[in-house]
Amino acid sequence: MRRSRCVLMSVLLMIADGLIVKGPSGPLVAPLGSSVVLSCSVDELLSVKDLEVEWRRTDSETLVHLYQDGESRTAAQQQDYQDRAHFFTDQIQHGNFSLRLDDLRAEDEGQYKCKVYIQQESGETVVQIKVNAERLLVSGSDQHISSSVGEDVTLSCSVDSHIPPGDFEEVSWKKTDEDIQVLLYQNNEAHSSNERYRDRVKLFPAEIHKGNFSLRLKSIRTEDKGVYMCKVFAGGLSANATVELERLAPGSIIKAAALLNQPHALHNAEA
Ligand SMILES: *[C@@H]1O[C@H](CO)[C@@H](O)[C@H](O)[C@H]1NC(C)=O
Ligand SMILES: *[C@@H]1O[C@H](CO)[C@@H](O)[C@H](O)[C@H]1NC(C)=O
Ligand SMILES: *[C@@H]1O[C@H](CO)[C@@H](O)[C@H](O)[C@H]1NC(C)=O
Repeated sequence: MRRSRCVLMSVLLMIADGLIVKGPSGPLVAPLGSSVVLSCSVDELLSVKDLEVEWRRTDSETLVHLYQDGESRTAAQQQDYQDRAHFFTDQIQHGNFSLRLDDLRAEDEGQYKCKVYIQQESGETVVQIKVNAERLLVSGSDQHISSSVGEDVTLSCSVDSHIPPGDFEEVSWKKTDEDIQVLLYQNNEAHSSNERYRDRVKLFPAEIHKGNFSLRLKSIRTEDKGVYMCKVFAGGLSANATVELERLAPGSIIKAAALLNQPHALHNAEA
């Protein structure tokens, strides 16, 4: 009597549990631009017949990856994930349905559900991604640069985060007090369309891969006086640093002060 009740209970438990799908034990924390493996597996895979694995974001229901009828259905997944989500087809036979997400972006932060269907059974696990709180940090020059009209000056701007070179979407140098686009770096090329600056500005090509977008401004003129902002867009984030050129009279000294994104910095520099 006792034994049969026990058997009955375990049968009920098995039905209630369905397929047991395992995921990672905690949130995955990874830096911007890196790759993470979102794990999802079953202990024992008896058959791959009618196997379907669906990876979705839980917030938007966006389809990240779909494996159905023996193949990855790339046309069904959201476009942004087609190049960035890698499903290990060769691991399926081991009951491993993990997904690698490359080139991690700020907006990838969130929860991902791996839902596995095998014949009549199904089960799921949820994986959480946290993009490392390390923000995109851009810093300018924190020392004063002295130069005279007619000379050349370097306005510093460098990205402190570990971002792969290919991940810089755009870097813009603007003179903010006059709203002039001084230089724009896009698709690995720097352009300057403003007449005043066109032939006088350049980046340092050998430095770009280090995240150094410092600007060389040649043959300084009096009207160059003002505030310059370097704004960097990468991995879905943006950040800026500001440099001020001041006291620009013929033969005088130019002081370039970095404002380092601090609200009081401008004030201090003026003091
Ligand atoms: C599944 O495969 C991936 C890629 O080879 C691997 O990183 C992961 O550790 C595997 N997971 C399990 C549970 O075997
Ligand atoms: C960026 O490159 C310029 C030009 O080579 C150099 O003067 C500057 O020190 C570099 N900045 C950093 C942070 O490496
Ligand atoms: C520059 O950065 C500061 C602080 O990070 C931010 O508050 C400000 O909106 C940014 N400015 C622009 C024009 O992006």
